[in-house]
Amino acid sequence: MAKPTVLIQLDADPQPSTFDGVVAVDAGVAQLFRHGGVTPDEVRSLVHGAMFTRGAGDMKRTAIFIGGSDVAAGEQLLAAVTSSFFGPLRVSVMLDANGANTTAAAAVLVAARHVGIATADAVVLGATGPVGRRVVRLLAGAGARVRAVSRSAERAAAVVESLGDRFPRAALTAHGVEDRDALAECLRGANVLVAAGAAGVELIDRATWSAADQLQVAIDLNAVPPLGIEGVDVSDDAEYRDGKICYGALGVGGVKMHIHKAAIRRLFESNDHVLDAEQILVLGSDLGL
Ligand SMILES: NC(=O)c1ccc[n+]([C@@H]2O[C@H](COP(=O)([O-])OP(=O)(O)OC[C@H]3O[C@@H](n4cnc5c(N)ncnc54)[C@H](OP(=O)(O)O)[C@@H]3O)[C@@H](O)[C@H]2O)c1
Repeated sequence: MAKPTVLIQLDADPQPSTFDGVVAVDAGVAQLFRHGGVTPDEVRSLVHGAMFTRGAGDMKRTAIFIGGSDVAAGEQLLAAVTSSFFGPLRVSVMLDANGANTTAAAAVLVAARHVGIATADAVVLGATGPVGRRVVRLLAGAGARVRAVSRSAERAAAVVESLGDRFPRAALTAHGVEDRDALAECLRGANVLVAAGAAGVELIDRATWSAADQLQVAIDLNAVPPLGIEGVDVSDDAEYRDGKICYGALGVGGVKMHIHKAAIRRLFESNDHVLDAEQILVLGSDLGL
């Protein structure tokens, strides 16, 4: 008889995320082991406990989920997890700290319903946050030209710099935007807008985005009023407004939840998946959402 599925949740925060725990159970995980305050030097023994307990045939029924609010800390845990594997002894692992990978993948996938991402010209507001960085990375990885926007030119440049090795320089540009005029200029010629600003912060007013004549799709990821894109409702799900197709955070959130649960289920299909942003985008794309 197949052994029950076990998901080991590793979280750098003191308390592991209840959101991630509930989603895991809803995705069908039978047993959830939740560890908070995990540091990279503690990972090896936790991973070995997962690797050495079940035989080859059942190893795929144990997997690891890395959450927490700090994406950089999550990336360190992921590196520690994968470096604890050797040979065929490994279990599948997924990184979704701060929901950044599943949220960014959902944003890219809803944009892709309406425009070809490989030829898109995209503006990402709040590009310096963990979600915005992932959105920039996934759009650029899919071939889009991406303008990474921050209130600070230096912080925007740092995002572009951090991704510089992965993509051609010309595809990624950094923009420090301090006022409406600069924002309007930044939107010139763009056909996709993603607002990934902090919760409860409006990043762009309606007059500015509705005047952007090439803009086709506007996506807001902020669910907390005031919303990130003025005039886009939190529940918008491909709603036409001012000639643009609009998505609010809940419209994107439904896609994100589908992706998150599908990714958890994917972990138990084999023992060798490593699901980071790009793999999660492919998985989401395969769902045909
Ligand atoms: N729908 C979902 O399922 C889901 C899941 C996860 C997150 N989210 C949402 O996605 C959004 C992005 O998340 P995050 O964690 O990446 O956000 P974050 O780190 O809190 O903020 C992102 C960026 O917003 C800018 N910002 C912060 N305060 C600002 C202010 N007062 N005025 C203007 N800009 C400000 C900052 O950029 P600069 O300082 O560089 O300008 C910051 O780097 C949030 O709204 C979050 O709630 C949604």
